[in-house]
Amino acid sequence: MSRAARAVSIDELRILARRRLPRLAFDYIDGGAEDEVALAGNRAAFDSLRLVPRAGVDVSRRDLSAEIFGRRWAMPFGIAPTGLSDVAGHGTDLAIARAAAAAGIPYILSTVATTDIETIARAIPGGFWFQLYMPAKREVGHDLVRRAKDAGAGALFVTLDVPAPGKRERDIRNAFALPFRLTPRVLLDIASRPAWALGMARRGAPRFASLAPYAPPGSTAHTLAAFMASQITADLVWEEIARLRDLFPGPILAKGVSAPEDVDRAARLGLDGVVLSNHGGRQLGLAAAPIALLPEAVQAAAGRLAVTLDGGVRRGAHIAAAVALGARFVFAGRPTLYGAAAGGAAGAERAIAILRDEFDRTLALLGAPSVADLSPAMVRT
Ligand code: GLV
Repeated sequence: MSRAARAVSIDELRILARRRLPRLAFDYIDGGAEDEVALAGNRAAFDSLRLVPRAGVDVSRRDLSAEIFGRRWAMPFGIAPTGLSDVAGHGTDLAIARAAAAAGIPYILSTVATTDIETIARAIPGGFWFQLYMPAKREVGHDLVRRAKDAGAGALFVTLDVPAPGKRERDIRNAFALPFRLTPRVLLDIASRPAWALGMARRGAPRFASLAPYAPPGSTAHTLAAFMASQITADLVWEEIARLRDLFPGPILAKGVSAPEDVDRAARLGLDGVVLSNHGGRQLGLAAAPIALLPEAVQAAAGRLAVTLDGGVRRGAHIAAAVALGARFVFAGRPTLYGAAAGGAAGAERAIAILRDEFDRTLALLGAPSVADLSPAMVRT
């Protein structure tokens, strides 16, 4: 059994991933914006919570399952969308999607994933949700939504927290770009991880697979990357998200929401949910932690839409705390990326198994035989 398949925590998978990946790939996954205050703050805000268990409850039989949008999942946890995942190694998107499906949890595919919508849909029929970056060329965005619908996406997550690229200083220092810019420093970095380098040499640098059809004909990986950079949208407003109803019949969620006023706005527009998120600390360098904003968001939602959350989730207890405070579902992107980077499919499976085991233990230790028994009184903020 590989080291990754025996790892005991997500932090251990992270350390193993750092050993397997060249610095530029690890830093792209692991890093955040500016001084990484939001990145560290997301985790620290979870770890500053204290749980208050109920004693003397029969927890010999536990039900971890949770329902959302008319479907029951194995636990109230799913895989957050992550871009360019195959920089961790070719097949990373697919390994994580399959691990999620096998564990009975939802998988959200990113617009800027390195595997396309149709391939993921074929790999996990019925199991995938789609995250949209609305491109500057709206007809491209609308076609992506149509493709996601046709491929059977069960929900649409529209991202709102990228009106400009975050200032990710690790990526700037590493000259991270796709295709890789082979400066002497990058070559040295890549040469230090021969197994990774061999995989990239065989299959080529990962690319934005779902977007390739819209790039100018004859695009090279270089021009496709330039096309992507030109597609950042700074003018996406709430009304436009609500109009996506005409294109997508399933649940629509706004992802990258922080302020309680915006939760209320989403509810008034009839959206089905929000993801409280600061993009894993990768955008606004001083962004507040979603878990710290959750109680106010739940209050603002007043039961009108599903409040979900991502950012800093590295333990099953984090999932339990968020659900106790009113999150309908909790997402994380980095844990399975660390897992897949550390050990491919087995590593991705291990990451989910670790979180599931910790979540199960936490329910038992909290005196909560089911997800419905988690309550705000169990958390001191
Ligand atoms: C993509 O969404 C990223 O945060 O890198």
